Amino acid sequence: MKDPSIRRSLTLFRAFMNEQSEPEHCYGLLARDAVSQVERYEPLAGRTVLDIGGGSGHFTEEFRRRGARCYLFEPDPAELGAHGRRTPGAVLADGYLLPVPDGTADVCFSSNVLEHVADPQTFISEMVRVTRPGGLIYLSFTNWYSPWGGHETAPWHYLGAARARARYERKHGRPAKHTLGENLFAVHVGPTLRHVRSRDDVQVVTARSRYWPFLAGAITRVPGVREIATWNLLLILRRCPHVDEH
Ligand SMILES: C[S@@+](CC[C@H](N)C(=O)[O-])C[C@H]1O[C@@H](n2cnc3c(N)ncnc32)[C@H](O)[C@@H]1O
Repeated sequence: MKDPSIRRSLTLFRAFMNEQSEPEHCYGLLARDAVSQVERYEPLAGRTVLDIGGGSGHFTEEFRRRGARCYLFEPDPAELGAHGRRTPGAVLADGYLLPVPDGTADVCFSSNVLEHVADPQTFISEMVRVTRPGGLIYLSFTNWYSPWGGHETAPWHYLGAARARARYERKHGRPAKHTLGENLFAVHVGPTLRHVRSRDDVQVVTARSRYWPFLAGAITRVPGVREIATWNLLLILRRCPHVDEH
């Protein structure tokens, strides 16, 4: 599907609305879409890809299908086994401390993980460390003021995280999966852009809304508006060549 296009955005949105009843369809589609985005910047056949916080492995599977050597790192065994799946060769590991040497990856990939870590800058630094100079980093996350920022409690998170959580529990008779400050964190578009632009070890190749059909890049340049309208920020970064310190 052409990216960006209205057809693509609608197809992804529809799949997302049916995520609970048809997870395989939803995540399979999302994986094909995201891996195609990577492939636009970096050929994948024969390349080494690290999928950080890759959950049940849909993205890893798609990278492998396109000929990459993809390794899945995921700290939560329950996520690894979600949807009854088992990804061969998956490694139980935390994104803060990946068990791989510096410069291993041609592509370091992370989809919708950054908002689940308490220290996003350390998480990004570890992604940069494991990427070879010239390699690509794909980093996407749902920011807190996005209409989906509260995840399953959205859009009620606009009235406060605690209130949104209480409402979810009343309505569904069970607690929400995510708790702000425990496994969901308020990550914002502006500070994240400022952080990656200030780093001297990466170059920002693109910063755009991951799902919007138009003005996907322009939206991220408007302070305030971008915190709501971006929905999900996609950053494509390139690891800078090593600078000789002497
Ligand atoms: C919303 S899921 C995203 C899964 C998959 N990447 C996707 O886009 O569908 C968030 C994932 O981040 C993982 N995660 C949370 N903290 C992490 C950390 N410190 N390092 C790596 N992954 C982490 C969770 O276990 C979970 O699998």
